Order: sequence, then C-alpha cells, then structure tokens
Amino acid sequence: MQTQDAIESRRSIRKYKKEPVEEGKIHSMIKAGVWAPSGLNNQPWRFKIIEDEKTKNLLASHTHYGGLIKQAPLCIVVFLDCERSYDREKDFMAVGACIQNMLLTAHDLGLGCVWLGEILNQRKQAEKALECPSFCELAAVIAVGVPDEKPTSKRKSLDEFLL
Ligand SMILES: Cc1cc2nc3c(=O)[nH]c(=O)nc-3n(C[C@H](O)[C@H](O)[C@H](O)COP(=O)(O)O)c2cc1C
Repeated sequence: MQTQDAIESRRSIRKYKKEPVEEGKIHSMIKAGVWAPSGLNNQPWRFKIIEDEKTKNLLASHTHYGGLIKQAPLCIVVFLDCERSYDREKDFMAVGACIQNMLLTAHDLGLGCVWLGEILNQRKQAEKALECPSFCELAAVIAVGVPDEKPTSKRKSLDEFLL
C-alpha cells in the first residue's frame, strides 16, 4: 500500500472477527513502532502483548471500552520507559509517533486497531492490572484484530487548519 493511501484509508476498528491474529503481523507492527523518530533517538517505548482472558478482563474493568478489549483477540499495551526518558513531553510525542506507525502497519497488513486513551483516566489501576514495571508508565492500549466493520470517519477541510 502506498503511504498516502494507507494514511487516508486507515480507520479506528472497534469490531473484530473471531479470528486469531498472526504472530508475524504483531512482530511487524512492533518493528514499525520502534522505527518511529524520537528525541535524541532515545526510543522511549516498551510493549506488552495481552492475549489471555484473565488479563484482558482485568484491564477491561478499568475503562469504558472494556467490552471492546474483551472482544479483541489481543491488545498491545504501549508504555513510556521512564528510564530512557529525557523530556516527558517530547517522549510522549515520540510514543505517539510509534503508535501511529503501528496502526498504519496493522492496516497495511489487513488488521484493524483502535488506540485506546480513555484508559489513562484510571492509569494507576490499569498499570497494576498489567503488572507494569516501576520504570514504565502506561501510554496507551491498542486493541488489535481482523476487522469486522468499515467505518467512515471524515476530516475537516485543509482550509480549517491552515493559519
Ligand atoms: C490519543 C488518542 C486516544 C484515543 N482514545 C480512544 C478511546 O479511548 N476509545 C476509542 O474508542 N477511540 C479512541 N481513539 C480513537 C479516536 O476516537 C479516532 O482516532 C478518531 O475518532 C478518528 O477516527 P479514525 O481513527 O477512524 O480516523 C483515540 C485516538 C487517539 C489519537
């Protein structure tokens, strides 16, 4: 897929087929994530793959999007590695770039994802559920699966953004 096509056709996917996600595709997503730019090339991200029902259910109890987490075959949890961090604001921006790379790669590979940020409202509880190491901070959960919907979110026209 061409880059611009991938960017414009990617959508948040919140319904998944009852099909497993191939391990190689998860590997490709994470590889794309770590090729994101970061300040001083400090690569301040860490990942945890959650597939087991017990952890998914625990995580699900700390967000309004719990039903979605339970339905997804797996979730990739993205953390900020505080030991590698040099500037919290810039490092979270880098983690955002990392997540976008992962979403675009997933889309290119025929997977569907949604970036779940609302869970940060219960960050501490979610970190406990995830047995998050003390040097990490939860940044986002990405629910991943084979898409079972075709959403059509729109964007405002470019004129509305140009200053
Ligand atoms: C930082 C961030 C947090 C988000 N949190 C959630 C969330 O908690 N739940 C959810 O369903 N979607 C979440 N989304 C997805 C957005 O709702 C979605 O990207 C937006 O509506 C545009 O739709 P599209 O991704 O299909 O283009 C989040 C996206 C970002 C970038």
